[in-house]
Amino acid sequence: MKHIVQFLLAFVISFQFLVTGSAKASASEIDIDLMKFIEQTNDSLGSNLMMNNQADAIEDSEMLRELLLMVEEHFEVNSLNNQALKISNQAVFITNDLRASLYMNDVEKAKKIHVSLSENCQACHKIFE
Ligand code: HEC
Repeated sequence: MKHIVQFLLAFVISFQFLVTGSAKASASEIDIDLMKFIEQTNDSLGSNLMMNNQADAIEDSEMLRELLLMVEEHFEVNSLNNQALKISNQAVFITNDLRASLYMNDVEKAKKIHVSLSENCQACHKIFE
């Protein structure tokens, strides 16, 4: 049930994102609800990794990847900030890697990658401070 709700939420957010994204052609404001949902999913991933809940961690990593694809798209469309675009490309790459190591039953590696994902979040936020 939790996952159905998550997917619906992601759908609503992505729809909202598309609408607002195209309505403000030149605006570079990122959707704060999207970021809040990313944070929530990232926290959930962190605790699932800590508790070695591999199946739930895989679901979180997939959701996170979808959400970070939206961030990437945001910076592709509003290509005002090349540095942010690069970091968002890396974020997607990192979540791919994280998911892959979970599929290969390497939870320890996934935990390490999760640390670099948090560094990636911070790297992007620094640009907008
Ligand atoms: C490529 C850029 C980028 C990446 C990657 C990114 N963010 Fe953000 N994030 C932003 C921007 C831009 C804002 C809005 C900053 C502002 O307007 O002050 C933001 C805001 C936030 C906020 C504040 C929301 C609020 O309530 O004001 C949270 C929480 C957040 N991000 C979490 C995350 C987490 C967790 C990750 C990594 C998994 C992440 N972000 C990755 C660009 C990014």
